Amino acid sequence: MRADDDIEKKQMKGQTEVKHNILQKYLRPWMFKISEVNSDILYIDGFAGWGYYPDGSPGSPILAMDVVEQNYSSLKHKLDNFYCTFIENNEQNHEELEQAVNEKQEECPPVVKPDPINAKFNDFATDFLDEVDRPIPTFIFIDPFGFSGVPFETVSELINMRETGVELFITFMSGKMAQFMETDTHSIAISEILGTEDWEDRVDLDGSKEERAEQFLEVYEDQLRNQAGVEYVWPFQMYEESKSQTAYYLVHATNHFDGHSIMKEIMFNEGADDQFAYLGPDHYLFEEEQMDLTSFGDENGNSKFQRKIESLADDLYERYKGEQTTLKQVMKETTHETPLARPHYKDAAEHLEEQNLLDVTHRPDRRDGNKSRGVGLDDDITFVDKPRLGDFCP
Ligand SMILES: C[S@@+](CC[C@H](N)C(=O)[O-])C[C@H]1O[C@@H](n2cnc3c(N)ncnc32)[C@H](O)[C@@H]1O
Repeated sequence: MRADDDIEKKQMKGQTEVKHNILQKYLRPWMFKISEVNSDILYIDGFAGWGYYPDGSPGSPILAMDVVEQNYSSLKHKLDNFYCTFIENNEQNHEELEQAVNEKQEECPPVVKPDPINAKFNDFATDFLDEVDRPIPTFIFIDPFGFSGVPFETVSELINMRETGVELFITFMSGKMAQFMETDTHSIAISEILGTEDWEDRVDLDGSKEERAEQFLEVYEDQLRNQAGVEYVWPFQMYEESKSQTAYYLVHATNHFDGHSIMKEIMFNEGADDQFAYLGPDHYLFEEEQMDLTSFGDENGNSKFQRKIESLADDLYERYKGEQTTLKQVMKETTHETPLARPHYKDAAEHLEEQNLLDVTHRPDRRDGNKSRGVGLDDDITFVDKPRLGDFCP
């Protein structure tokens, strides 16, 4: 097995680029939202790495510091301290990280307070949980090479340090679990990260590696929801094209609906062909091109995407016919049932409004209410219960 400071392990891959894109795109709105209510925030990078990749690309710690540096003119009135705790266990990697972080700090405003620590993530987390009574809002990134050293109990305690305000973003190595599940030492580590031995009944030994990787993910999602009590859990698949199999899932866990909704949108845009997945460089579309997906029409001029929006609109109408609610409430209740994200819900609501199946009362007095036009997430909406053309057909 290669050491954690082996140069081969440090090469930048397409998957890493996408992982970093998602992380950095999310940290920006997260910081803006959180700093509105709390001027001190904490970023914990539990498997922080070595700073810069051999091709010069910044690693996750540098990216996090960069978000504040790039947005400081807008953040400076509300952000007093951006504490970043970087945990790295390998000594050589830690040394490189420390140097990279020190250099980056010189470019950053003084509110950025990095602390690169040479330790095991779980040892750090255990002490942290003992010492800190009520932590400030915290984003925890857990990005191991494998699946050991991240006990479920620790993750659950961390995310429950506060009712909301602690979010988790984890690289969940289910591809490796599927590969090594049959050896004893690995199966102990699997039970530790999942926080249960139930997986032995739920993951099919005779299934393909792909099936098993997905079953491991299901167990983990269930554990986060049911044992850790997390409200919103959303995965993004990272596919290893050369091996035609899932390498890992990125899993975002939060009790904050806005956080979930923003992350879902970012993952949707990073995914290939409206799947929540990176399928390899040949399938990778950048955001501008993603937007164009909506304009690919069929022979009737209807885009595949437009049909999806209409189908969402139909499903929502059938479910909420006759009810008064808000689009935000509708999203909260249905987000786990559809891959579609916030802009698509808005399009679906506007589609219903055009057909006079949705009445909208604008609520500019609410945070996400619109002044006029469109459907704001906090506007009052009523799904009008009236017969539709199709209802008269035999
Ligand atoms: C996938 S790399 C991290 C990459 C980094 N997050 C990034 O995106 O640039 C995983 C790192 O975790 C370190 N590591 C391994 N076991 C660890 C542990 N138990 N606690 C903390 N760090 C560990 C490895 O030395 C390696 O540098």
